[in-house]
Amino acid sequence: MKLYWVLLLFVIACWTRRGEAQLKQLLVNCGSNSSVNVDGRKWVGDLVPGNNFTLTSAGSIGSSNSSDRDPLYGALYKTARIFNTTSSYNFSLDSGSYYLRLHFYPFSFGNFNVNESSFDVTANNLKLVSKFNVTAEILWKNAKSNSNSTSLVKEYLVGIKGKGLDLEFSPDARSVAFVNAIEVIPILDGLFADTVSKVGSNGEKNSLNLIDQGMETMYRLNVGGPKIESSKDSNLSRNWESDEKFMYVADASTMISTDSKITYSSINESSVAPLEVYETARTMTNNEVVEKKFNISWRFDVDPNFDYFIRLHFCEFVCEKANQRIFRIYINNKTAADNYDVFVHAGGKDKAYHEDFIDVIPQQIDTLWLQLGPDSNGAPGSDAFLNGLEIFKLSKNGNLAHVLSRFDTGGGANASDSKPKNKSLLAIIVIGISVTLTVIVISLGFICLYVHRKKAIHVKEQHPPGWRPLFLHGLNGSTTNARACKSPLNANGSVATVRTGKMFTLAEIKTATNSFDESLVIGTGGFGKVYKGDICGDLVAIKRAHPNSQQGLKEFETEIVMLSKLRHRHLVSMIGYCDEQNEMILVYEYMGNGTLRSHLYGSDLPPLNWKQRLEACIGAARGLYYLHTGAERGIIHRDVKTTNILLDESFVAKVADFGLSKDGPALDQTHVSTAVKGSFGYLDPEYFRRQQLTQKSDVYSFGVVLFEVVCARPVINPTLPRDQINLAEWALQWQKKRSLEAIVDPKLQGGYSVEPMKKFGEIAEKCLSDEGKDRPTMGEVLWHLEYVLQLHEAIQSGEGESFTMNELRYADNSFSMPRIKEGDEESIDGKSLELRS
Ligand SMILES: *[C@@H]1O[C@H](CO)[C@@H](O)[C@H](O)[C@H]1NC(C)=O
Ligand SMILES: *[C@@H]1O[C@H](CO)[C@@H](O)[C@H](O)[C@H]1NC(C)=O
Ligand SMILES: *[C@@H]1O[C@H](CO)[C@@H](O)[C@H](O)[C@H]1NC(C)=O
Ligand SMILES: *[C@@H]1O[C@H](CO)[C@@H](O)[C@H](O)[C@H]1NC(C)=O
Ligand SMILES: *[C@@H]1O[C@H](CO)[C@@H](O)[C@H](O)[C@H]1NC(C)=O
Ligand SMILES: *[C@@H]1O[C@H](CO)[C@@H](O)[C@H](O)[C@H]1NC(C)=O
Ligand SMILES: *[C@@H]1O[C@H](CO)[C@@H](O)[C@H](O)[C@H]1NC(C)=O
Ligand SMILES: *[C@@H]1O[C@H](CO)[C@@H](O)[C@H](O)[C@H]1NC(C)=O
Ligand SMILES: *[C@@H]1O[C@H](CO)[C@@H](O)[C@H](O)[C@H]1NC(C)=O
Ligand SMILES: *[C@@H]1O[C@H](CO)[C@@H](O)[C@H](O)[C@H]1NC(C)=O
Ligand SMILES: *[C@@H]1O[C@H](CO)[C@@H](O)[C@H](O)[C@H]1NC(C)=O
Ligand SMILES: *[C@@H]1O[C@H](CO)[C@@H](O)[C@H](O)[C@H]1NC(C)=O
Repeated sequence: MKLYWVLLLFVIACWTRRGEAQLKQLLVNCGSNSSVNVDGRKWVGDLVPGNNFTLTSAGSIGSSNSSDRDPLYGALYKTARIFNTTSSYNFSLDSGSYYLRLHFYPFSFGNFNVNESSFDVTANNLKLVSKFNVTAEILWKNAKSNSNSTSLVKEYLVGIKGKGLDLEFSPDARSVAFVNAIEVIPILDGLFADTVSKVGSNGEKNSLNLIDQGMETMYRLNVGGPKIESSKDSNLSRNWESDEKFMYVADASTMISTDSKITYSSINESSVAPLEVYETARTMTNNEVVEKKFNISWRFDVDPNFDYFIRLHFCEFVCEKANQRIFRIYINNKTAADNYDVFVHAGGKDKAYHEDFIDVIPQQIDTLWLQLGPDSNGAPGSDAFLNGLEIFKLSKNGNLAHVLSRFDTGGGANASDSKPKNKSLLAIIVIGISVTLTVIVISLGFICLYVHRKKAIHVKEQHPPGWRPLFLHGLNGSTTNARACKSPLNANGSVATVRTGKMFTLAEIKTATNSFDESLVIGTGGFGKVYKGDICGDLVAIKRAHPNSQQGLKEFETEIVMLSKLRHRHLVSMIGYCDEQNEMILVYEYMGNGTLRSHLYGSDLPPLNWKQRLEACIGAARGLYYLHTGAERGIIHRDVKTTNILLDESFVAKVADFGLSKDGPALDQTHVSTAVKGSFGYLDPEYFRRQQLTQKSDVYSFGVVLFEVVCARPVINPTLPRDQINLAEWALQWQKKRSLEAIVDPKLQGGYSVEPMKKFGEIAEKCLSDEGKDRPTMGEVLWHLEYVLQLHEAIQSGEGESFTMNELRYADNSFSMPRIKEGDEESIDGKSLELRS
C-alpha cells in the first residue's frame, strides 16, 4: 500500500514538473513593485526582484486612480511604465512560439498628456506598431463597435529563437511611450500548421511558417454565442467576442447550440479553441417558406495591403451523416472552398474541427468579407453554418504596423497612402451611407443592450381573481408525486413516472398510418414527419421522429411530460405515445385545418378573414395564458410561432409542440437560465442577450405572431430589401408611425375597421417591447384581444360608436389591469381525451 502511494506521488510530481516546463507564462504588471491577482492569474510587478526579465532603462512610473473604470483589469492598470527614450524589456525565454499581449490604459502621467503620446514597438526584429496613438485607436474601435472601452489590448504571435524576447518601446520626438501590462504565453506546437491553402488556389496548400513571420490577431469570435472570457480559455487566455456586430445582415441566420459532448477531432486540436466555441453556431435561417438562396455574411475592417490568415472553426452537431449539410465558403467574394461538408472533414458528428485560409487584401481595400452560402450544386442538403472565427494579419517585410488614416478623426487629409482614389463619387457616397447605416444599426443594438443591462427584470405574474391553478400533475392530479414532476428536464430518465398518455404498440401505430404511408403525411420538419392516422375510427395526428432527429430524445420526453400534465381547450392534447423499438412517436388529437400559417400565406388555402384571424389569436392567447398561469410555476412554451398554432375543423386555435417547453422560474427567481433555443424571427432579443427565460419571452414571440397574422408574410424573408427582412422590425417601424395599415395583408382589405386594427397594432407593439418588464402578460394580451374582437363585431353590427364610448376607459389606459372574462377557466376536457376504443 505504501509503495502504491509513493509511486502515485512520484507520478504526480513528474507530471506537474512537466506541466510547469511546458507552460511558463510571463505576466507583467508594469510600473509596479507588487504583484496582483487579476482574471485568475498572478501578474508579477516589473520591479519585483528575480522576475526573469530586465529593463534597459527604468523610464518612469505613472499611476492612475481612475483605472477602476476598467471592470476586469482595473487593479492591473493602476500603474504604467513610461519611457521618454528608446528602452526595452528583455525577457529570457526558451525558443518557441508565443502569444504576446500588450495592455494599454491611457491616463495622464505627470507633465505628459497621454494624448500626445506616439511611439513604435518592436519585438526582436518585428515591428508591431508605428506612430502608435493609443487614444486614437481606442476611439476608433469604440466608434466601430459603439462601445465605451477605456483600454486596449493588442495581441501578437511571435516566434522566439535562442536569445529571448527584446521588446523595444521607442517614443517619437517630444513624446513618450507607455505600457500597463505585458503577457507572454507559450503556444504548443501544432496550433498553427505549416501549410495553408490560399484563397483561389484550388485548394493547393502553401508552405508557410506563420509564427516566424509574425502575426497580429485582428478578430476572434465565438459565432452564434456569447462572449467567452479569457479566464474560460484555460491555457491561452484568449478572448472570444460575440460575432453579431460583424454580421452584414444578422437576420439571415439562426443561432443554434448543443448540449451534447463535443470532442476534438484530433489530439492536436485541443488548444485550437475551447470547446465552448464549438457548442454554438450560426446557420442559415430556415423558415420553411424561403429558399436558401442567400449567404450568411460577416464584414470586418482590416488594414489594406496585408495578407490575412483566416481560421474557421466548425463542429457539426446536428446532422448524423455526410452529405446532409454542404456549403460554399467565400472569402472576399472569392470561392475559398466548395462542396464543403464539415461532417466529412471533421470525421463525424460533435467533432471540433478547423479550416485555415490565407488571402491578400490589396492596397485600396480595407474590409474583409466572409460569406457562407448554398453550393451551386443546389443539393437539398444545402445549408451553411459556422461556430467560430479568427482573423490574423501577417507581417510584411518584418512589419505589422499600419499607420492608419483612421487616426485622423477630421476626415483624412493626409491619408493619401491608404485611401482609394476612387473615380466614382457615387460609389463613395453609397458606401458611406451603408457604413453609416451599419453603424446606426449596430449602435441601436448596443444602446438597447446597455439599457437592458442596467435594469433587472421582475416578472410577477398576477393571477386574476377567481383563477385557480388547474390540473397540474397528471390526470390523477395527485399531489403526493408532484415533486417528481416539477422539473422533468432535470430528472435523469426518471420522467417515465409522470407519463400519463396511453402507450400504443408499434403495431397499432402502423395500422393507424397504413405502415407510415407517405400519402398520409400532413407535415414535416426537423424532427421527422407527421401522419394523419385513424385509430378505431378516430382521426389522430401521429408525429414520428426521424431516427436522426434534431428534436432528440430529450425533447420527445419533454413533450410527453408537458402534455401529460396539461389539458386545455386551446392546447393540442396528446392522446398517447409509442417508444417501442427506439421509435419516438407521439399521438395527438387531429387538427383538421392544419397550421395557422398555412391559412395566412405560402399555400393555396383561402385566407382567413379578419374575425377568424382575431379568434385564432385569442384562442392561442388563451392556451398560452393557461400555460403561463395554470401550473404552479407556470410553463414557458419557448417556441411560439404560427406553425405551432393549429386549427381544428371548426377553426378553434390550439397551441402545439411542447418539445422545447420549460417550467417557469421558481417563486424566488425571476427567470430560468438556459441555452438559447427557439425559432429565429420570433426570438426574444432580451432572452438571447441574457439567456434568461421568462414568460415574457413567449409574449414577445406572440407579438411577432400578431404581426404575422395581420401582414401575412414570413417573419424572416432574406430575399426582401434589407429593412423588410425581419417582420418584427419592419412592422414595428410602421406601427410606431401609427401607419400599420400600409402593410396590412391586402386580402384583408375592406374586411376590417380602423379602430380595432389600431388597437391590435398597439397590442403587438407592446408585446415587442424591448424589455420583458414593459411587455404585457399573456392575460393582459388576451383581454385586449378580446376587446378588439368585441369592438370589431360592434362596428360590423353598427353599434361601433356607442361601444367605443362605453369601453373607452378600458381602451385607452395602459395594459395594467386585465380582467379575464368568465369562462376562461373552462378547460379540463378530459372526456375528449379518452379514445373510444
Ligand atoms: C516599492 O515598494 C516600497 C516598499 O516596499 C515603496 O517604498 C516604494 O515606494 C515602492 N516603489 C514604487 C515605485 O511603487
Ligand atoms: C524565473 O524563472 C525561473 C526558472 O524558469 C522560475 O523558477 C522563477 O519562478 C521565475 N521567476 C518569476 C518571478 O517568475
Ligand atoms: C487622482 O489623483 C490626483 C493626483 O494624483 C488627484 O488630484 C485627484 O483628486 C485624484 N482623483 C480621485 C478621484 O481620487
Ligand atoms: C527622461 O526622463 C528622465 C526621468 O524622468 C529624465 O531624467 C530625463 O531628463 C528625461 N529625458 C528626456 C530626453 O526627456
Ligand atoms: C485625450 O483625448 C480624449 C479624446 O479626444 C479626451 O476624451 C481625453 O480627455 C483626453 N485626455 C487628456 C488627458 O487630455
Ligand atoms: C492621438 O489621437 C487623439 C485623438 O484622436 C488626438 O487628439 C491626439 O492629438 C493624437 N496624438 C498624436 C500625438 O497624434
Ligand atoms: C536585450 O536583448 C537584446 C537582443 O536580444 C540584446 O541585444 C541586448 O543587449 C539586451 N539588453 C540587455 C540590457 O540585456
Ligand atoms: C499532430 O501533430 C504532430 C506534429 O505537428 C504530427 O506529427 C501528428 O501527425 C499530428 N497528429 C494528428 C492526429 O494530426
Ligand atoms: C492546456 O494544457 C494542457 C497540458 O499541457 C493540455 O493538455 C491542454 O490541452 C491545454 N489546453 C488548451 C486549451 O490549450
Ligand atoms: C454569395 O456571395 C458570393 C460572394 O460574394 C456571391 O458570388 C454569391 O452570388 C452570393 N450568393 C448568393 C446566393 O447571394
Ligand atoms: C463582396 O460582397 C459583399 C456582399 O455581397 C458586397 O457588399 C461587396 O461589395 C462585395 N465586394 C466586392 C469587392 O465585390
Ligand atoms: C460603459 O457603458 C456602460 C453601460 O452604459 C456603463 O455601465 C459603464 O460604466 C461605461 N463605462 C465607462 C468607462 O464609461
